[in-house]
Amino acid sequence: MILVTGGTGLVGAHLLYYLINSGENVRAIHRKSSDLEAVKNVFSFYTNQPEPLFNKIEWMVADITDVPSLTPAFKDIDYVYHCAAYISFNPRHYPVLKKVNVEGTANIVNFSLSQGVKKLCYISSIATLGKTVNGGLITEETEYNPEDDNSVYSITKHEAEMEVWRGTQEGLDAVIVHPGVILGEGIWSSASGGILCTVSKGIKYYTTGGVGIVDVQDVVKSMISLLNSSIVNEHYILVSENISYREFLSKIALSLNKKAPSKPIKKWVMLAFTYIDWFSNKLFKTKRKLLKATVSTLYKTRTYDGSKIEKEIDFNYTPYHNTIERVSRNYLRDFN
Ligand SMILES: NC(=O)c1ccc[n+]([C@@H]2O[C@H](COP(=O)([O-])OP(=O)(O)OC[C@H]3O[C@@H](n4cnc5c(N)ncnc54)[C@H](OP(=O)(O)O)[C@@H]3O)[C@@H](O)[C@H]2O)c1
Repeated sequence: MILVTGGTGLVGAHLLYYLINSGENVRAIHRKSSDLEAVKNVFSFYTNQPEPLFNKIEWMVADITDVPSLTPAFKDIDYVYHCAAYISFNPRHYPVLKKVNVEGTANIVNFSLSQGVKKLCYISSIATLGKTVNGGLITEETEYNPEDDNSVYSITKHEAEMEVWRGTQEGLDAVIVHPGVILGEGIWSSASGGILCTVSKGIKYYTTGGVGIVDVQDVVKSMISLLNSSIVNEHYILVSENISYREFLSKIALSLNKKAPSKPIKKWVMLAFTYIDWFSNKLFKTKRKLLKATVSTLYKTRTYDGSKIEKEIDFNYTPYHNTIERVSRNYLRDFN
């Protein structure tokens, strides 16, 4: 039997569809507060009858930070896909990031070891890779540098990854993937859902950095292929294309029948907005919308080499314009 964590998230929900549709026995953990309807919404993009497939999943309430709740979740489990994580770039969220991403992953690794799990697939991020000088291509060999100005998210995802590598030293077979920004439909509260939501309101400006992107279906297909392969203790970047924010936002805007952003916005202006956002949070308790760490990312151009996976397994990336067109069309289905 297969265990999936984070099944109510963007990657996990698409993964559940692919696994269930291919006849696998799957248990998925979720928290009491999880939105299971969102998973059915994801299934509805693949089939007119999501309910019967959804009902084949054995859902179990468990929290990856709560060890006793994981004991029944690991009963009779052979394979694990660990997709659950807390995603935030807000330094004030560091305690919860550490708890969920690092401690939670250590729990998954420890249970996998003690229950004799045959293989674990862990989803990390390109945020755990290092940087190159002069904008050279970043590969799986570009090591994380703790001296860099790393976000709290990347620090905790890196430590989580170290827990997985520690597990492999103790006898666990594992594979790790490092996706770029994942584009996918159905869970619109996710990172990429937020981008579509913003662009759908119309944007005039773009930032001058770039981004590595990948289709959620490619992420899921590669994870399944890696888990089913004889490959162990390897890691793979998942980036189909490195594109500028201008191109990325323009393509989404046009797919949503909106005007493409036409003016660059200076970094200092964006930084000024982070201070306004900070004051508003302090004075009126509004939710932080723009963080310095996010602005910093929006002005960086890093290029990732996602080709290793294509060389080692039978896999090809979906062209990014097809992904953006499909996801935008599906966004319009849900919000028009
Ligand atoms: N989205 C991206 O662009 C992107 C890019 C690179 C890497 N990643 C990585 O890909 C993975 C999946 O990302 P995603 O976009 O699918 O995230 P997501 O949509 O935010 O989903 C996060 C999932 O984690 C679960 N979760 C959070 N805390 C938990 C806890 N304490 N116990 C159990 N489950 C918990 C959530 O469950 P609830 O329903 O209970 O909240 C949800 O199912 C993450 O590891 C993320 O770091 C994402």
